[in-house]
Amino acid sequence: MMTLYRIARPLLFCVDAEKAHGISLQALKNGLLPAVGNAPDPILGVDLFGLHFPNPVGLAAGYDKNGEALAGLKGLGFGFLEAGSITPRPQAGNPKPRVFRLVEDAGVINRLGFNSKGLEVAAANFAARPQGIIVGANLGANKESPDRIADYVTGMRRLAPLASYVTVNISSPNTPGLRALQGRAELEELLGRLTETRRAMIAAGTAPFPIFLKVAPDLTQADIADIAAVVRELGIDALICGNTTITRPTSLRSAAKGEAGGLSGQPLKPIALQTLKELYVATKGEIPLIGAGGIQNAADAYARIRAGASLIQLYSAMVYKGPYLAEEIARGLAKRLRADGFNSVRDAVGVDTPLA
Ligand code: FNR
Repeated sequence: MMTLYRIARPLLFCVDAEKAHGISLQALKNGLLPAVGNAPDPILGVDLFGLHFPNPVGLAAGYDKNGEALAGLKGLGFGFLEAGSITPRPQAGNPKPRVFRLVEDAGVINRLGFNSKGLEVAAANFAARPQGIIVGANLGANKESPDRIADYVTGMRRLAPLASYVTVNISSPNTPGLRALQGRAELEELLGRLTETRRAMIAAGTAPFPIFLKVAPDLTQADIADIAAVVRELGIDALICGNTTITRPTSLRSAAKGEAGGLSGQPLKPIALQTLKELYVATKGEIPLIGAGGIQNAADAYARIRAGASLIQLYSAMVYKGPYLAEEIARGLAKRLRADGFNSVRDAVGVDTPLA
């Protein structure tokens, strides 16, 4: 199946990156990609938040923004899927072109700006989602919203009952001012209102659900300390580290490196890994971390787990390596765990990051 992508890739690379993305989404929606049939390998199972992840390799948000291809995505070998970001009201996002391949760097720059069909379309897709796979709803805020915190509350109210978990994405660099919600006071208000609403929802009969917070890889030491403190104080279930970076490593070679937006893929890897380690130390290993950013292969996934991630997510590497990458990474991960004498993913979490 990887061979087939070797044929498809040059054709997809002939068209604009966002168009190619649309073609792949249509192919998945129409059942054109056969499902992988492997039984889950027990060494890869992760139990967290009352959920059983058959393997720790997830699809990061941004590929299926509206949750429209979940049935097709279920067949690609992921241990979980995250759809979004979803904004309450539909919005078009930024002018095109707004997604760029950095081929020489195995990276991507995007400045989509939360193009979303809105909460009602997403809710219908989530209501019809395939069973037997964990699906998270990644929530965003409308660009013109006068109260962005209210947008996250609205999104959670509508989608949490239909999803396995919700992710609060305050780390997109493409909605001006959004990342300011990562500051201590703003974060306390945001997460306070969300956890308060969750309490009320559960009291009114909604089944309990986890809330994840997705942060940027570009954080100062002070940001990391604040995030760790607030998350622990308010009972947020996991941190996803992280989103795309606004930095531009000097190693970049591709012509598109000067485009505005968030950079993902291979060049993001060292930055995301470092921030994950710092978050692991700051949270004393007590809050599950989901590592994302530049994961290309099983070695990267394994390194991220050993650095402190309980689960991982990927997106950009699929552009270069094809739709079945998760399945390949999961198999390689199982081999690596066994070779090092681990009995489970959990046993390897954080072994490379000493806690003082
Ligand atoms: C993203 N990402 C993203 N994240 C998010 O929380 N909400 C979103 O809507 C999007 N949209 C989006 C679009 C595109 C085109 C890309 C490439 C990425 C970020 C993504 O989920 C992930 O955090 C980063 O891309 C880092 O992982 P990779 O891509 O390096 O594996």
